[in-house]
Amino acid sequence: MSEPGPTPATPARIGLLGHGTVGSAFTSLISERSAALTAAAGRPVELAGTLTTTQGSFDEILAASDLIVELIGGIEPAREYTLRALNQGKPVITANKQLLAQHGDEIFAAARENKVQVRFEAAVAGVIPIIRTIQESFGTIRIDRVFGIVNGTTNFILSEMAATGASYTETLARAQELGYAEADPTEDVNGADAAAKMAILARLAFHTPVTLGQVEYEGIESIRADDLAYAKELGLSLKLLGVAERRPAAPPDAPDAADATAPEGISVRVFPCFLYGGHPLAPISGPFNAVMVEAPEITEVTMSGPGAGGTETAAAVLGDLTSVLAGSAPVSEPREQLPVVTDVSSSFYLHLEVADRPGVLAQIATLLGDEGISVKSVVQRGLSEDARLTMVVHETPEPRFKAALQRIAELDLMRSPPRSIRVIEEAFG
Ligand SMILES: NC(=O)c1ccc[n+]([C@@H]2O[C@H](COP(=O)([O-])OP(=O)(O)OC[C@H]3O[C@@H](n4cnc5c(N)ncnc54)[C@H](OP(=O)(O)O)[C@@H]3O)[C@@H](O)[C@H]2O)c1
Repeated sequence: MSEPGPTPATPARIGLLGHGTVGSAFTSLISERSAALTAAAGRPVELAGTLTTTQGSFDEILAASDLIVELIGGIEPAREYTLRALNQGKPVITANKQLLAQHGDEIFAAARENKVQVRFEAAVAGVIPIIRTIQESFGTIRIDRVFGIVNGTTNFILSEMAATGASYTETLARAQELGYAEADPTEDVNGADAAAKMAILARLAFHTPVTLGQVEYEGIESIRADDLAYAKELGLSLKLLGVAERRPAAPPDAPDAADATAPEGISVRVFPCFLYGGHPLAPISGPFNAVMVEAPEITEVTMSGPGAGGTETAAAVLGDLTSVLAGSAPVSEPREQLPVVTDVSSSFYLHLEVADRPGVLAQIATLLGDEGISVKSVVQRGLSEDARLTMVVHETPEPRFKAALQRIAELDLMRSPPRSIRVIEEAFG
């Protein structure tokens, strides 16, 4: 009598919600990578059902699945389905940044209460494994700053404008033709998409609850081709940056009495920003993303890669699936309650169109000096009757810079409203 063979392992059954750009790429990938997935998971993987607007029933798919992959997007019904799955003890994998940036508290609490995993690598910076890196590799060190280019559409537009000299409107139209910008690009170009991603990164990096409403953001709609042209002469390139950083508690001897009691906090912001050529993010061009993490123990780590795309995003979802099936740690509770602050300091590029007459530069320098702002570099050009001054000023508290800008705008020598963009001064390497 022959020995019985090994019992075939019970398959892991996936309930797939959404079968659009990412969902259909994910279906192809789990079939193409089935042998590798089975080896990593220790059992075969099969689709229990797929939900779209015209196909499937969520109740039936949930009942038939061991875990849910949410690729619908938006808030409802993605929120309801995610919570129902977690409350039934079923892990959820999602690529939905808006859901996590707006309802992260509720979703992570449900995951903790039910001791199940929620994974979301694809929600931030496409295929770059930044979530896993912050949560796992750097989960117990004290991160000081996470920042980078987390929106590929705006990075494509800014790099094309710099390379071709074309206007913002022309370049946006080209990005739409090439599929790098959606028909309605509002959330990408106004910074809201990047803000949602930064809320998620800040929550993980600082172990503190952060929601989209706490992120200050600006977009790139008012960037002009000549800002990029003049900045090139100052050795600068423009990026839309997301920056989440610790703001240390003020030392007891802080000169400004209002600052003396400032507690430790964090600031989370999105803004267009000039970088000098030696900065690791300066060469990141086209629809790519890049994220840097800084902490005393690691100095600085930079990762870059495609920020979107069906297959690329689905590859990040597949990575999460492998982690869930291989059984890694569920979401831990926030261990800090840091306030999110907005009184930060920055260096700025300033573009002024002024009357071409003696003493103008001195008048502006005095006005900046009154606010304690010092000038790092200046380029001056004549424009028949008028002149154009572009300059970079050293780091200064933002309210002071805004006050100086307001006073400059009121000078009768100004020919158009002043324009300003933040600059990162640090040199790397
Ligand atoms: N596309 C990217 O490059 C990318 C990159 C990073 C992250 N993401 C994220 O990935 C997620 C999916 O994006 P996508 O580009 O694949 O979206 P998509 O192409 O618009 O697909 C959405 C899918 O969800 C289904 N759906 C929509 N509303 C539904 C509802 N009420 N009930 C059931 N099904 C519903 C749609 O059904 P129908 O097929 O019937 O229309 C479609 O299959 C989003 O959270 C997005 O932010 C996408």
